[in-house]
Amino acid sequence: MNITVIGTGYVGLVSGVCFSEIGNNVRCVDKIASKIETLQSGGIPIYEPGLQEMMMKNVEAGRLTFTTDLSGPVSESDLVIIAVGTPPLPSGEADLQYIEAAAREIALSMKGYTVVAVKSTVPVGTNERVNSIIASLTDQPFDTASIPEFLREGSAVKDAFNPDRLVLGVQTQQAADLLLELHRPLTENLVVTDIRSAEMIKYASNAFLATKISFINEIANICDKVGADVDEVAKGMGLDRRIGPSFLNAGIGYGGSCFPKDTHALIQIAGNVEYDFKLLKSVVEVNQAQRWGIVDKLLEALGTLQGKKIAVWGLAFKPDTDDIREAPSLEIVPKLVEFGAKPQVFDPVAAENFRREYDHESITFAESALEAARGCDAVCLLTEWGEFVNIDLKEVEAVMNQSVLVDGRNVYSAQRVKETGFDYHSMGRPALLRDSFIATQS
Ligand code: UDX
Repeated sequence: MNITVIGTGYVGLVSGVCFSEIGNNVRCVDKIASKIETLQSGGIPIYEPGLQEMMMKNVEAGRLTFTTDLSGPVSESDLVIIAVGTPPLPSGEADLQYIEAAAREIALSMKGYTVVAVKSTVPVGTNERVNSIIASLTDQPFDTASIPEFLREGSAVKDAFNPDRLVLGVQTQQAADLLLELHRPLTENLVVTDIRSAEMIKYASNAFLATKISFINEIANICDKVGADVDEVAKGMGLDRRIGPSFLNAGIGYGGSCFPKDTHALIQIAGNVEYDFKLLKSVVEVNQAQRWGIVDKLLEALGTLQGKKIAVWGLAFKPDTDDIREAPSLEIVPKLVEFGAKPQVFDPVAAENFRREYDHESITFAESALEAARGCDAVCLLTEWGEFVNIDLKEVEAVMNQSVLVDGRNVYSAQRVKETGFDYHSMGRPALLRDSFIATQS
């Protein structure tokens, strides 16, 4: 199949590489010449494990190319995928100007029957808008479709080849047949539905996952007060198949390019049809408050943050990515500075991206987790990178001024902490160190 992917951001690039890997001819188009030059020379503008290797393999096999020219590839394509950005407007609504511009350009270049599928996350009704823009500019036969993306950053390549399901929103059998043929090698779980429902599935899924996270974070806050252990609670809850074990990790809240944006957008979408999505509004509020929870724990442990050196481990919104969009670190580190602390920050890959967004004379960017901890009054873990999880805590303690460890992601076990002299605080686990007794199952 000949495919053009418009937009070489995260979604577009991963999709392009993935579809070429399963044998299609894919051309990835972007207006930004410097991005295309980077890709043409084998570079990759994002950090995603395994992606660059797979990209190079398919470029060498002649199945994957990068260009700034949209019209040539579109005129030869069976399928054009729109994967441009939909950044939030100040109102929280998605800005659709790039989608609409792409639709216009596609319309002027299409030749013969083409399926135009939107992969960007867009409000319900956007595909219909794309359809009418194209229809007003061409008499070539076409269908529009909605193929939302469910990839997680950091495991996008793995997710692309092992999806739980893929959703195909279509309006004709011809478009359904083409998209089924393309996606069948990836999974048997293909949900073929109407376009509006497909658009809604994406928002509803992300909003539900965000809700799970805020729910368990509130349970953690209550556990802190009643003396229970939220990890034990989540384990006990998650074994109920109706609940499921994933997205019940309590911590400092969700960040990233999707959950914050999509929850706000869905609240806005509901508001536009005069529906007050109260539950989702609370989810967002809880997530914001959760970020301050870790600052409160530091204050509680140290009395004051004035003049205190605080090691901050992890700046990315989650491990295995250099993405700091909506990362809790972007609010927590400035708050520490505001309280007079001197943060010594370290992230394996996201430090430069962070520095571009926020820098201050009180901050030191360290070269390693251990260097960040040197001379500090507390370590505060914000992202659960493997190297923090596996670090020798005794070695860390030895270089610190005071042994306070505030674990924003609940990564350390009671046993690991007990081997050290750390004054250890985590999110909703006061029972962890108190009740070392766990009954063995006979
Ligand atoms: C998410 C969705 O999972 C994906 O389907 C969608 O396509 C894009 O948005 P992503 O943002 O890459 O993916 O990351 P994800 O792994 O889902 O984590 C999102 C945030 O939630 C992170 O900040 C993470 O730390 C947080 N999180 C996740 C928790 O705090 N607790 C959890 O139990 C799970």
